[in-house]
Amino acid sequence: MKNNTYYITTPIYYPSDNFHIGHCYTTVIADCLSRYHKLKGEDVYFLTGSDEHGQKIAERAAAAGKSPKEFVDPIVANAKDLWKALDIEYDRFIRTTDEDHIRCVQRIYEKLYEQGDIYKGYYEGWYCTPCESYWTQSQLVDGKCPDCGREVKLMKEESYFLRLSKYQKQFEEYLESHRDLMQPESRYNEMVNNFLKPGLQDLSVSRTVDKLSWGIPLTFDSNHVSYVWIDALSNYISAMGYLSEDDSLFQTYWPASLHLVGKEIFRFHTIIWPIMLMALGVAEPLKVYGHGWLIIEGGKISKSLGNYKDPRIYIKDYGVDTVRYFLLSEVPFGNDGQFSELLMVQRRNSDLANVLGNLVNRTLTMSNRYLSGKIKKNDVSGAPDASLQAMINDLSVLLEDKMDGLRVDEAIGVILDLLRRSNKYVDETEPWKLGKDPEAKERLESVLYHLLEAIRVSAIALMPFIPETSKRIFEQLNTSAKSYSDMAYGKVDEYQVTANPEILFERIDEKSIGVSEEPKAAEKPVEESKPEITMDDFSKIQLQVGLVKSCKKHPKADKLLISQVDIGDRTVQIVSGIAEHYTPEEFTGKKIIVITNLKPAVLRGETSEGMLLAGSDGKLLEVVSVQDLAPGTKIY
Ligand code: MSP
Repeated sequence: MKNNTYYITTPIYYPSDNFHIGHCYTTVIADCLSRYHKLKGEDVYFLTGSDEHGQKIAERAAAAGKSPKEFVDPIVANAKDLWKALDIEYDRFIRTTDEDHIRCVQRIYEKLYEQGDIYKGYYEGWYCTPCESYWTQSQLVDGKCPDCGREVKLMKEESYFLRLSKYQKQFEEYLESHRDLMQPESRYNEMVNNFLKPGLQDLSVSRTVDKLSWGIPLTFDSNHVSYVWIDALSNYISAMGYLSEDDSLFQTYWPASLHLVGKEIFRFHTIIWPIMLMALGVAEPLKVYGHGWLIIEGGKISKSLGNYKDPRIYIKDYGVDTVRYFLLSEVPFGNDGQFSELLMVQRRNSDLANVLGNLVNRTLTMSNRYLSGKIKKNDVSGAPDASLQAMINDLSVLLEDKMDGLRVDEAIGVILDLLRRSNKYVDETEPWKLGKDPEAKERLESVLYHLLEAIRVSAIALMPFIPETSKRIFEQLNTSAKSYSDMAYGKVDEYQVTANPEILFERIDEKSIGVSEEPKAAEKPVEESKPEITMDDFSKIQLQVGLVKSCKKHPKADKLLISQVDIGDRTVQIVSGIAEHYTPEEFTGKKIIVITNLKPAVLRGETSEGMLLAGSDGKLLEVVSVQDLAPGTKIY
């Protein structure tokens, strides 16, 4: 059982196409957390991989004239190469086509079937024959297939089901005392209100082979293959040898310390997965964190839109640590955030070149110029020393607080604070003046020693984030004091730094970047102010509080969500262009402000009986919401 172990996972990604910067986002954060726990001396296991079965991959393979396995093999090889280029140090890359995974999934189905938690029933839905897809009533558009617009038939098909409903009460009780399972906390209410309160439906977990052949065959019924979530979620325990002859990894590392996932698959990881484990009699994971999306120019990065470059191009142009640093620092963890090449370069210039690189370079240059690179610890102290020493000594505590709270971007912030303080210390102590004064040699040595200590301790803290850079710093400082317990002032008695300091990060000319993708603030078109209006004009607009009772994606438009909104005396349908910023699950349950006397409009075939209030700076979009006011309340 858990004993100084840390087991972290990423989602297993679909290899329907090469991975993009969004997949890098989750994986780099997981790698950073994994490295951080290793640095602290914990026994870490880090799992990532690929989710290879299912209709979509079967179709893409067929279109390419290949078998599914032939189709995914090069994509998986490419993904492994990408993880290598990004310095991802995983312990295993699991593929759902791996023999041990297949065997484990079959055993899980058998066990659940034998104990009556998987049963045979009928899956019913609206079937579109040309698209070979099932749709629910609410997904249909004008009663037709939302993909091709053709007639659909109500069809019934044999399927096995997982008894989620049986475990609802037990799971709710478990959750009461384990709220930590769902992180960040804001997603807890979303899950409870939108999925648990309405009551769980049993989940269809198989398809007949005539409908889907690219799945894991069920051993107790050769006419069925596994379908979607049991296969995918089981990877977290199949990789540990669960239900196999050698389950030593499972005994050592399970339960998982953290499943890191994007917010759109949070529900599967925090409801279906824990219930599956409950049915299997296996302990629940300790935490699931649902992070936000990385978006490009206001939209989600998407393979089908092709709005991204191979991440290796950025690594080649700017170095692996610029990419890692950007992904780890730019987005407040848990929220959505913007990705662009220009933003990445700006962050490199402002933090890595101007703060870190500059501090290291000026300290090493002065160490060589004034003291031939040899700097001993001494007690000749000056005014700003105490505050710098305190910051150096506090860093590990601050870092631990941020990392244990999964606030990765803030963790970088505390390291940067120390580096900025150190640059200020240079300005305050003016070593170039001390260097000219033969009487001040010992004070100069103390100043440079303080700076080297600040750099060394920061470089230890930076190891999980930008490991290659930390390594280069240790080499230049010529020090072996680089373990977690060395994160304190005074651990080195004497430095002999390199005689040839190298620049860590050259500044990159921002003008050399494809600026068209991200206009600078000054170049953004200035929005014209609207003409003055009277109170009378304003009073024509009826604003009311609306409670989003349900919400779904517009079947024909990627950017639109369709919401049913309770405005007190009635429910209205509102279609809004917010799908790239909110998932339907996230949006359901929000109390928003609606213009309720707007003439209805039809948007891509769906009537919108009002408009909601939202603000956007061109990158992020936030819907205006209220806390306590009841649906229908008028806003003046
Ligand atoms: N195969 C399932 C997951 C099964 S896990 C048991 C799947 N695959 S996926 O290829 O669609 O990957 C989705 C995950 O990739 C997200 O949950 C997130 O971790 C990552 N991301 C993909 N695009 C992303 C962004 N644009 N931004 C941030 N993360 C992104 O779902």
